[in-house]
Amino acid sequence: MKVSHTVSNHSEDLKESPLFQQPSNGRTRPPTLFVVFGAQGDLTTRKLIPALYNLASSHHLPQEFAILGVDGIPMNTEDFRAKIRRDIEELSPRPIDATIKEWLLDRLYYLSGDFRNPQTYELLQGMLTQLNAAHGTQGNYLYYMATAPTFFAEIVQQLGAKGLVEHRKEYSRRVVIEKPFGHDLPSARSLNQALRTVLHESQIYRIDHYLGKETVQNILVFRFANGIFEPVWNRQYIDHVQITVAESLGVIHRGAYYEKAGALRDMVPNHLLQILSFVAMEPPNTFDPEAVRNEKAKVLRAIEPMNPVDVLQSTVAGQYEAGSVNGSSVLPYRAEVNVDPASLTETFAAMTLGIESWRWEGVPFYLRTGKRLHTRVTEVVIQFKSAPLMLFRKTPVDRLTPNVLVIRIQPDEGISLSFGAKIPGPQVQVGTVDMDFQYAEYFGDAPSTGYETLLHDVMAGDATLFQRSDSVEVGWSVVDPIVKVWESLGSHAIHPYSSGSWGPPEADALLAKDGRMWRNHT
Ligand code: BG6
Repeated sequence: MKVSHTVSNHSEDLKESPLFQQPSNGRTRPPTLFVVFGAQGDLTTRKLIPALYNLASSHHLPQEFAILGVDGIPMNTEDFRAKIRRDIEELSPRPIDATIKEWLLDRLYYLSGDFRNPQTYELLQGMLTQLNAAHGTQGNYLYYMATAPTFFAEIVQQLGAKGLVEHRKEYSRRVVIEKPFGHDLPSARSLNQALRTVLHESQIYRIDHYLGKETVQNILVFRFANGIFEPVWNRQYIDHVQITVAESLGVIHRGAYYEKAGALRDMVPNHLLQILSFVAMEPPNTFDPEAVRNEKAKVLRAIEPMNPVDVLQSTVAGQYEAGSVNGSSVLPYRAEVNVDPASLTETFAAMTLGIESWRWEGVPFYLRTGKRLHTRVTEVVIQFKSAPLMLFRKTPVDRLTPNVLVIRIQPDEGISLSFGAKIPGPQVQVGTVDMDFQYAEYFGDAPSTGYETLLHDVMAGDATLFQRSDSVEVGWSVVDPIVKVWESLGSHAIHPYSSGSWGPPEADALLAKDGRMWRNHT
């Protein structure tokens, strides 16, 4: 992530500004040969190709650029181009610019081969040499692992055996690893070790697509580019923090994966803890990748470890039953495709975490995530402590609410701050009002899959928004003790909730016992 200074006092000024229109914000766009393993998969179709198209439209791709898709499905380059042409046209929510589409398709190639077969890498080596020469990509190879996780280590080691990941001063060799990065601490460690047998840590880009969201990145800008928030961003002023990642969708066609993952593993060690680290980290000295990642790792390491009793008292697992979401009746989780009818997999997880630091001691962080909840919303709620004196005795107590800062990550991206204001009239009465900033209103609605910044950053060699091995491992060390207790409790751990609700009542009780409530949307 590159931070540049702009004068930003009005949206119209911003749009007029030549700086705003400059395609690559002054950053280099190194020639790149982009190799996607898993080129026929959903991720490539729905995210990577559209993100590359968006980057091309905003002039963020270099002229010396090519994409090589690798997958097991037999196909030649011509047919692959035809498939991607159809995908681009059918999946785009906006009109497609034919020139950009053709520019991209002209640079698209395909290699079919089994990821386990060394012969595939033999062929790959030949194609890389040819494409590198044809497109002037100067030996810069970016390998994207968009495959099932079982192939990550295998592919990287096969690339290593062929000498295809040797990073030199003259060129770069980088590898992007998708989530899930392991399924617990031991498996994440062994994947890290396997990768490190052929790669240096600086070549590994562990992606978490939440860090590609502008609103998540903006948490850092909001906290550290504005002088007024930092002084109150601590236990003296903040009562508690809520992080909610709620989805209204069910598991859709991902039952087979989800049965093994569950809400906790799927969302918490990665997305929720990444958001938490941005909210809670200390200010880095610079925006250098290592400075930012050091601070993130420090705060994650300061999360209070949970023993089994803590897990019983501070966590809640749930599973959705039938219900109604956005006016439509939906099936229970156990009736979804590829889901065991007696499944004990959680589709909802909530927990209270503490952070052992001078800044956060005694401030609970309440996290929750789930599928088939009332509405789709991802937000961070910072609830400040109440004013110390009850000066306004005539005000009904329920109106004198504490200040709440809400960082809306999606949808309806923005930030709002609620505060007390005098209700007009002869008596002094206080009501709660909001100051509201909406991204779309200020910055427009740029096409985005969430992957654009991340892909651009890997090409530029900026690892700020990617997870380092220590952060990934500490994420699992927070989650593993919870999984262990939930598994040992079996069906007793899983609290049912109706689809379309805000999760099981036990999640409300988690906050109620501290005298607090979740901020729910109606
Ligand atoms: C993925 C999870 O990482 O994130 C999915 O595997 C989840 O289960 C998705 O639906 C949510 O992402 P977003 O960007 O739609 O909030």
